[in-house]
Amino acid sequence: MNDRFLKACRREPVDCTPVWMMRQAGRYMAEYRALREKYTMLELCRTPELALEVTLQPLKYGMDAAILFADILLPLEPMGAPFEFAKGEGPVIHSPVASKADVEKLHDIDVEEGLGYVLQAIRLLKKELKVPLIGFAGAPFTLASYLIEGGKSSQFAKAKRFMYAEPETWNVLMGRLAEVVRKFLHAQIDAGADAVQLFDSWVGQLSADDYRQYVQPHVAHILKDVEKRGVPVIHFGTGTYHLLEVQREAGGTVIGLDWRTPLPEGWARVGSDRAVQGNLDPITLLGPRELAEKRAGRILEQAGGKPGHIFNLGHGILPETPVATVEAVIDYVHRTSARS
Ligand code: CP3
Repeated sequence: MNDRFLKACRREPVDCTPVWMMRQAGRYMAEYRALREKYTMLELCRTPELALEVTLQPLKYGMDAAILFADILLPLEPMGAPFEFAKGEGPVIHSPVASKADVEKLHDIDVEEGLGYVLQAIRLLKKELKVPLIGFAGAPFTLASYLIEGGKSSQFAKAKRFMYAEPETWNVLMGRLAEVVRKFLHAQIDAGADAVQLFDSWVGQLSADDYRQYVQPHVAHILKDVEKRGVPVIHFGTGTYHLLEVQREAGGTVIGLDWRTPLPEGWARVGSDRAVQGNLDPITLLGPRELAEKRAGRILEQAGGKPGHIFNLGHGILPETPVATVEAVIDYVHRTSARS
């Protein structure tokens, strides 16, 4: 078992810096696109044998961890909010949440019953993998934003209006999501996940004061509890330069840094008692390969060989990314960071 990813999460010395990439299984790979000709995104997620196959696809490029193929929105369906991935539009929630009555209709779930296919994919993966497996879930704010906006959004005006106008109902919604996510992460660890990541992708839309008031207790409810399991818990968001201290307080053994945050400053602010993950701008992978390598080299230099750095992109890989650049950057990180 290649365990340099887990060692880095625990801030232990490693032979070289571990790398994985968010959205590493996906449309930039021809093998994935071929499967998507035959199956929808949700069919891939709901069929454990297919989720297994897709999760394994990118590992030939040398990643030091696998991330389960699934989606943060999957728990919404058993909670009573079905959705689909519409072509070219991203997720579409069939009946967005707009009132207290809508929030009250969302119910708690039995994870095995509602999301057993995810747990089954983890069990299958654990028999095949030679690298650690990362399980994951969406954080309450990011999930609530999809539920209220009904899909993608740029300003999150509906979600934030709901938060400001109906703080008590907001709190009920966040509490309900947090409890489902907490149980789901525990179930993934029970099924064999070696680490878990909480994706709060859109939380950067909030000020630090709003984060503390409307979000932090719910994220802390999840993270403080799941951390007791002793597996690394990665707390990730984007646009979070102004939130690192409040995210740190909410929890996470590893804090994700996006590409806007200079790594040394980000690490100093989350504290030397945490590991950090990041933070190459995914768009650099679309430029010349030499530039992507140079930027990766700069990040390694900034991390300074200190135990506790996991190399990753600052957000998910884009479908236009050339496979050769992905491979080159992974190899470059391994070679350049090798300790003798
Ligand atoms: O990282 C991985 O390889 C694991 C799989 C994974 C997916 N989604 C597969 C996926 C993970 C970890 C996610 C998380 C996710 N899903 C997030 C948080 C991370 C982030 O990127 O911010 C969010 C916000 C979602 C919701 C979601 N799912 C959106 C907005 C979309 C459509 C946008 C897009 O990229 O097309 C999806 C669909 C989705 N999830 C795809 C994949 C590979 C594309 C599906 C396809 O058409 O094949």
